[in-house]
Amino acid sequence: MLYTKEVMKHFQHPHNQGVIKDADSVGEAGNPVCGDVMKIYLKIVDKKTGSKTKKVIKDVKFETLGCAAAIAVSSALTDKIKGMEIEKVLKIQKDDIIKDLGGLPPAKIHCSMLGLEALDEALKEYKK
Ligand code: FES
Repeated sequence: MLYTKEVMKHFQHPHNQGVIKDADSVGEAGNPVCGDVMKIYLKIVDKKTGSKTKKVIKDVKFETLGCAAAIAVSSALTDKIKGMEIEKVLKIQKDDIIKDLGGLPPAKIHCSMLGLEALDEALKEYKK
C-alpha cells in the first residue's frame, strides 16, 4: 500500500499526540470493522472580534490506536483545527483532510472518518 509523503510524515512524527488533563471536552470514536479507536481532547476559549465573541479551539490533543492512516489523519486534523473557530471546524469534511494529506489509498478512505467522528463527539459533548 502506497502512502503519500505527507501521510508518512504525520505517521512517523505525529503532531498534537497526548492528553489534555483539564480538557473542556473529550470525544471518542471507533471503527467497528478494524477496531481502531481515537480520542480527542479540546480546550476551547472565547475570542472577541469587535462586538462578537466566538468560540475557538485553543488546544487539541489526540490518542489514536490504529493504522498509519488513522494516525496521520489525527495529526493532520488536529493541526488544522488548532486556533480555528468552532463554526469553521464544523464545516470540515473528510475530503479536506484527505487533501491535506495529499490523498489516501482507496482502502484507507474510511480511516479519515475516525478523526472527524471523534471531533464531532467532542463538540456535541461541549455543547451539552
Ligand atoms: Fe482502521 Fe484505518 S484501518 S482506521
